[in-house]
Amino acid sequence: MASRITIVGCGYVGLTTGACFSSLGHEVTCTDVDADRVELLNRGEVPILEAGLDNLLREGINGGRLKFELGSIEAASQSEFVYLCVPTPQGLDGSADLSYIEAAANEIGPHLQPETIVVNKSTVPVGSTRVVEQALGRSDVYVVSNPEFLREGSAVHDFLHPDRIVIGADDQSAAVRVASLYLGVAAPLIVTDPPSAELIKYASNAFLATKVSFVNAVAAVCEAVGADMNDVVLGMGYDKRIGHEFLRPGPGWGGSCFPKDSRALIRIAEDAGYDFDLLEGVVGVNEEQFDRVAAKAIELVGGSIDGKLVAVWGLTFKARTDDLRDSPSLEIVRRLKERGARISAFDPSVSMPLSPRAASVLEGIDIAVDPYAACIDAEVLVVLTEWDEFKWLDFDKVASVLAQPRVVDGRNILDRESLRLRGFDYRGIGRT
Ligand SMILES: NC(=O)c1ccc[n+]([C@@H]2O[C@H](COP(=O)([O-])OP(=O)(O)OC[C@H]3O[C@@H](n4cnc5c(N)ncnc54)[C@H](O)[C@@H]3O)[C@@H](O)[C@H]2O)c1
Repeated sequence: MASRITIVGCGYVGLTTGACFSSLGHEVTCTDVDADRVELLNRGEVPILEAGLDNLLREGINGGRLKFELGSIEAASQSEFVYLCVPTPQGLDGSADLSYIEAAANEIGPHLQPETIVVNKSTVPVGSTRVVEQALGRSDVYVVSNPEFLREGSAVHDFLHPDRIVIGADDQSAAVRVASLYLGVAAPLIVTDPPSAELIKYASNAFLATKVSFVNAVAAVCEAVGADMNDVVLGMGYDKRIGHEFLRPGPGWGGSCFPKDSRALIRIAEDAGYDFDLLEGVVGVNEEQFDRVAAKAIELVGGSIDGKLVAVWGLTFKARTDDLRDSPSLEIVRRLKERGARISAFDPSVSMPLSPRAASVLEGIDIAVDPYAACIDAEVLVVLTEWDEFKWLDFDKVASVLAQPRVVDGRNILDRESLRLRGFDYRGIGRT
């Protein structure tokens, strides 16, 4: 049965949730406080890069099941479900900042119909369901936790084909109503209490971060003992208890979720009286990984990078997204710049003129029109995002435009042997 849903927040999660729910037949209104973003969406333009999202948004709009509005009050007052998909950034003390959630709940609280279900899809710490209940100030509406596990780059696919759907509710009938929204999505359904649902999200992200940090730590051992990390992870991954997913060495983890969610879980544990030393170590290994990759570039150019030009391929935190938030690439670029390097970068999703969001984090980086242009006269090339297009370039041409054919393959995506044949001095991660 079709339901009326308001989605508060038109970002990566909100737009995907809205577009996918409308594709499942629901009547969806997506709202935001950003007037430019709403105007863009109403013109049929998509403000983020996400595979399949543009088609789904167009289908929803043309089918009359999807619209966009500035401000949430009107839409929320006419909806059976209100999904909160607003940011929960890292606060000053490491805990999640709930001010966006509280502001949204304060705004809509007085206008909701009785029996409305307010659903937290933002990643929020244990106990946030209560925070939302208080901010709404209503005893005749329900608050349910329904955390989101989508991966940027495959968000639409992940929403419609999730590994699981998690619903945390005190009231069973509210849980059943939320579950019914996903009719047509085949996935295991876990119905639990709100604190458990909230913790499932944090523990999942922290576990994935742990897996990557572990692999990067083993990569450091590989370099020290002369083993090949690519072969090591292959051998590990065939063990079904370990699996191949998330078992690739790289420049460290980042993005809009892992860093803040790992810190928030450390803080949640600390507040509850448990020192999560393991997760502190995971965060520490990640910081070291940024240093280690920057150090590889510095070593390749002879020990000092001061005044030297470095070509960087890849700025986003992973491939197939335009999201630059907390990108490992930018962490490494920052370290190189601090040591005096000049940066010329190319990323398939970043072009001039920069959006205001991109401009704020890419200050002092020259953006090239293509990967070859980024390499002109550079002393070393550093590959930091695993875009497929980097694998199939003309590396004779790359060698000819670089000042010296040197490459740090921060994702182990290039063909080491073929590069060495072309005269490159090659350094990967966990392989010499
Ligand atoms: N991005 C991901 O991959 C991902 C995955 C799973 C969960 N999450 C979680 O989902 C939440 C949202 O993340 P995101 O990446 O979509 O954020 P985002 O920054 O891309 O989007 C958030 C949107 O909310 C809008 N907004 C802020 N306050 C508002 C208000 N009061 N009313 C209406 N709109 C408002 C902002 O203008 C922005 O457009 C976070 O808690 C995040 O941790 C993100």
